[in-house]
Amino acid sequence: MYNFIQQFHSGWAYLAILVLVIAVVNSIIGKSSQKEFTAKDRKVALFALIGVHIQLLVGFILYFVSPLGLSSFGQMKDAALRLTSLEHPLINIIAIILITIGWSKHKKATSSEAKFNSIAILYGIGLLLILSRIPWNLWF
Ligand code: HEM
Repeated sequence: MYNFIQQFHSGWAYLAILVLVIAVVNSIIGKSSQKEFTAKDRKVALFALIGVHIQLLVGFILYFVSPLGLSSFGQMKDAALRLTSLEHPLINIIAIILITIGWSKHKKATSSEAKFNSIAILYGIGLLLILSRIPWNLWF
């Protein structure tokens, strides 16, 4: 159980981050070239949203089955354990909330520019937060 969830979370991270990068770059290009927001742009943003939500769900399960998750919570002097048991989950939850707000703001926006803006900014901040708390030494 633990091995499967851990490997899934590790592998899915590539996909989730890749699609998120594509969504951010796509919206920056769309905004700066003053393009119209099309169904393709919506799909790219939706795939990124789904990608990070699946990662969130699997992350929650992993948190309870991993020896580096809840069971290491409290060992705050150990930087590696603090990262996997507190900083990584907490910052990623905040990042995914921001990405979700970006998605709902783009839905409410009426102009193409405002739609690209909310995705570029909120997905962009989410991406930076996620990248700031990846346990790189475990991943590579
Ligand atoms: C988009 C969001 C997220 C991304 C991109 C992500 C990515 C990663 C990566 C790349 C690793 C290292 C995997 C490895 O060992 O090869 C990892 C580990 C871990 N993640 Fe996440 N994660 C995300 C969200 C979460 C959330 C929300 C939680 C918990 C609520 C979580 C809990 C954990 C735990 C406990 C580990 C250590 C697992 C272990 O090696 O036993 N993650 N994550």
